[in-house]
Amino acid sequence: MSDLHIHLACVECGKTWDALGLSLRCSCGGTLSVEHDLERLRSRVDLATFDGRLGSRAPLDRSGVWRFRDLIVDLPETSVVTHGEGNTNLYRSARLERYCGVRELRLKHEGENPTASFKDRGMTVAISMARHLGQKAVACASTGNTSASMAAYAAFAGMKAFVFIPRGNVAYGKLCQALAYGAHTIQIDGDFDAAMALVQDLCQAHAIYLVNSLNPYRIEGQKAIGFELLQDLGWEVPDWVVLPGGNLGNSAALYKGLSELKALGLIDRLPRIAVIQAAGANPLYTAFKTGQPLVPVHADTVATAIKIGNPVSTTKSMRGVVETGGVVEQVTDQEIMDAKAHVDAAGIGAEPASCATVAGVRKLVAAGVIDPDARICGVLTGHLLKDPDAVVHYHLGKQEGIVSHFPNAPVSIPATLEAVEAIIAGALED
Ligand code: F0G
Repeated sequence: MSDLHIHLACVECGKTWDALGLSLRCSCGGTLSVEHDLERLRSRVDLATFDGRLGSRAPLDRSGVWRFRDLIVDLPETSVVTHGEGNTNLYRSARLERYCGVRELRLKHEGENPTASFKDRGMTVAISMARHLGQKAVACASTGNTSASMAAYAAFAGMKAFVFIPRGNVAYGKLCQALAYGAHTIQIDGDFDAAMALVQDLCQAHAIYLVNSLNPYRIEGQKAIGFELLQDLGWEVPDWVVLPGGNLGNSAALYKGLSELKALGLIDRLPRIAVIQAAGANPLYTAFKTGQPLVPVHADTVATAIKIGNPVSTTKSMRGVVETGGVVEQVTDQEIMDAKAHVDAAGIGAEPASCATVAGVRKLVAAGVIDPDARICGVLTGHLLKDPDAVVHYHLGKQEGIVSHFPNAPVSIPATLEAVEAIIAGALED
């Protein structure tokens, strides 16, 4: 145990490692996980403390990650790099409840984070750890959101940032962020999985700190989604939490955080976790259905954020699904874009990968897996503006392979009052 009262353990063989070490994989190749001294925490952590911090003006208390620092990593404040992440809304929409055929669906909109995706929760912790360890340069492979988040936090912390992205497969809003925040942006001729392999080799060979969710501190920060969600609900555990799965860090983190809350006696049960994959990027779904080890696939989906065929956090994520009596489901690109049209038109809005959540709820309810009377929470992982092309192409009916069932194309008219009135009259009659 370091003075942070944590150590690292391999999720495959259990071997333990120093919390302040720089290697992110075990000698057996397994991924590492942060282990807390739960006995020590039991007498020090209670829900009232977390609730009390909601009223505080201290920057760490105001962050929806660092508010839960006792259960994440209790770094000295001088090491912390925060943008006041989290504090995202938990929405209800009658329209979306109707669409999914359920009584109660709440959507935690992680697109309301500082760089507009859920990645900021893990990134504030990974970059703070990098600072704590004296690191000067950080790197990640990304389908876009991780790189946007890392670029912002690294710039804020005065670190060099190296981003590896699959050329032509990163949505514009995300690419813009990496460039704007000054990251060295390296587009590779290959997919995300190739970028992920490359960046691991790079970081091993050079003094560069890897901040993909392979980094166990990313997972620690990401856990705060579950903590904040339960705090929003007055610590009442919902029946289901549904979220999209790509590299599988988020689902792994959700399970880890909530099972630690349970081990500490702060909640008495776990929600069932449903991970939703795109049908064109579904290796976890196949592994879940067949009961066989995960076989990597060549990924292809309109939801570029989850276009991942060889996820890093498979073991951790599958454990969460199985231990909570959860499921893995897949949804087609058409189902994702139909759901997105509804999420957007409900006035909430989210990028395509996020809408796999809503498409997944709808499908699981129709299949009788989720009870329509269950208390369901879904995670929307990224903001609508992350992928403006997906929106415009859909509404113009130009999205390849997708039928635009709910188009809202702009109309072009001459600049006359008559022409405007003709349009308005038609619209008001709807
Ligand atoms: N939703 C969005 C918007 C994402 O950006 C990602 C992952 C996921 C869902 C899947 O989450 O990987 O934890 O299972 N994006 C990563 C990136 C891979 O590079 O931004 P996961």
